[in-house]
Amino acid sequence: MNAASDQARKRAAFLRAELERHNYRYYALDDPEASDAEYDGMLRELEKIESSYPHLRTADSPTQRVGEKPLRQFGTVVHSVPMLSLLNAFSESELAAFNRRISDSGCAGNIEYSAEPKFDGLAVSLRYENGEFVRGATRGDGASGEDVTGNLRTVRAIPLRLRNGAPSIFEIRGEVLMFRAEFEALNERQRVNGEKEFVNPRNAAAGSLRQLDPRVTAVRPLRFFAYGLGEVVGSELPESHSAVLDWLAELGMPVSVERAVVQGLDGALRFYRSMDSRRARLAFDIDGVVFKVNSLARQQELGFVARAPRFAIAYKFAAEEANTIITAIDIQVGRTGTLTPVARLEPVFVGGVTVTNATLHNEDEIRRKDLWAGDTVIVRRAGDVIPEVVGVAKAGPRKPADQFVMPSECPICKSAVIRLDGEAAARCSGGLFCVAQRKQALLHFASRRAMDIEGLGEKIVDQLVDRKLADSPADIYQLRVKEIALLDRLGDKSAQNLIDSINASRGRPLSRFIFALGIPGIGEEAAKVLARHFHSLDSLLLADWSAIAEEKKSNQRANASRKRRGEIAAPQILEGIGPELMASLEKFLALAQNREIIHALAESTKPEEVIAGTATVLAGKTFVLTGTLPNMARDQAKEMIESLGARVSSSVSSKTDFVLAGDLSGGKLETARALGVRIIDESGFMELIGKIRGGT
Ligand code: IVH
Repeated sequence: MNAASDQARKRAAFLRAELERHNYRYYALDDPEASDAEYDGMLRELEKIESSYPHLRTADSPTQRVGEKPLRQFGTVVHSVPMLSLLNAFSESELAAFNRRISDSGCAGNIEYSAEPKFDGLAVSLRYENGEFVRGATRGDGASGEDVTGNLRTVRAIPLRLRNGAPSIFEIRGEVLMFRAEFEALNERQRVNGEKEFVNPRNAAAGSLRQLDPRVTAVRPLRFFAYGLGEVVGSELPESHSAVLDWLAELGMPVSVERAVVQGLDGALRFYRSMDSRRARLAFDIDGVVFKVNSLARQQELGFVARAPRFAIAYKFAAEEANTIITAIDIQVGRTGTLTPVARLEPVFVGGVTVTNATLHNEDEIRRKDLWAGDTVIVRRAGDVIPEVVGVAKAGPRKPADQFVMPSECPICKSAVIRLDGEAAARCSGGLFCVAQRKQALLHFASRRAMDIEGLGEKIVDQLVDRKLADSPADIYQLRVKEIALLDRLGDKSAQNLIDSINASRGRPLSRFIFALGIPGIGEEAAKVLARHFHSLDSLLLADWSAIAEEKKSNQRANASRKRRGEIAAPQILEGIGPELMASLEKFLALAQNREIIHALAESTKPEEVIAGTATVLAGKTFVLTGTLPNMARDQAKEMIESLGARVSSSVSSKTDFVLAGDLSGGKLETARALGVRIIDESGFMELIGKIRGGT
């Protein structure tokens, strides 16, 4: 090595250490020493050295934060320790109940809690191996998330290398967010550049983290705060959660200074009130505070409920309220013809978004709250919840025409509006003759829990119906790329994507297909019951409803007498589907127009029938799911089980046939073991299914 390169190596090492130190002072200690210009100067000098001496470049160099290539899509990361959610409390009494549950489980005296802000951002998991940042992922469904390593590397608050003494495997959990001031500045830049502004810091942070091109993420002012751990190998854990947070801070991780150790319910309430009064002055948005039992040993003992720990709770701040004026009360026509009054509001910023509309539900609700157009009203919105009009703040000036009257004709198709006795909703009687109902029927058909056709949203459906390209769901499967590409806002590429997602929706399970039809009253659960009972669409269409009603009645009579004799009831046929739903099914399925659409749909989508052969193997069997499965979302497992004619129940009893377990411990498993219920894991389950599908 010559003298020049040796000097360069030393200088590069010095600059790297300095840059990391300044990052740490800036992001973790909030106590910067160098100015931005000094920092940038050092970074440029280091870049120059590394380009003259490429062998000196290291993966954890601050120059290597921004990768070059945009991704085509994010990969998946299976979390080695699941990322859980938190139980919520919305009132003092709910917090008191949480505290009592902990005391009752055998904690004497005041319980010590670690108290922290509830950051309003996005949860991520950061994995360090031998001190080096190797992978970062979003929470996803808790079991697996998206691999956003490239984007997280650009976040300067996240050290690429931990300070000395990090365990060999160290997973840090925390929240990515944006400071309010930096968010405002970002929006200012977006405005100047003629680009779209973000609604609030949370959305801006989420949008920035989910960029396929890390160079875009790199110019977004993202921050990070750590609040916990995932997998840790190669070190003992401290005794308390507050010590974990201190440890994280020592290793160079930003940990919010807004944390405290508090004693008992009183201490917790004091912390909550103090944060609530100071929240507007914090640099970032928080939507509550989190309390965690401080002792890690106690946390272990307390364990988990479903997907949340028993030892922690998020106490949310009250929903934000603001005053605004109702400019008009319009009517929206829903899928089954329900006429819903909607308040058009003078735009008002509340709970982190600008609200311009709020549903008023129905006529009675408007009367009860005595809402008139022109009234100044109180609007409330919390977190992801839809906005609501709480009541009148100041009435009027009220002219007679400002009072809401339900129209007697549908505003869209002019058919008569009917309101049945005992029903809150007024309905358009136009059925599928009404354009609004047709549009809603298409949207429902394509929705996530129905046929799940990604990209088929309101704007496209409006155009498809208005341009007479699709009248019923059956027409969706006849669409061609050329036709779709002509719609506003779409090009060839998006048109092809839409066709791809339409094609991907063929062959969905029968239960989804039935739900997608939008038969009045038939929700997801009822659709599953129908799919289990009829196995195929043909037999559903051939159903003799009066015979079924008779059968149900005699079934009920038999059960009533069994009950009198103290015997166990036999399973009901079509459980949960009462006379009203049966009448609705009969009416819907008898209409020639509907049958035609269903036949056409069956032809093009070929719903996956409930496998008849399994009726003898798994039909009627009961599964209980517990823990997080390594490769499968809970909903997915549930759907599979149900497609095999079995059902999923939430608690283990002697009637449970199988417990499908993701973890090796937990209350449900203990009960299952005690009762001798068969326990299988995901691979056992897949094997079982494979055998059934293979016919063995
Ligand atoms: S702890 C084991 N602490 O809240 C519990 N979560 O509803 C795991 N969050 O997805 C979470 N601030 O994104 C924890 N101080 C904090 C938090 C926090 C915000 C978010 C987190 C999580 C969600 C849970």
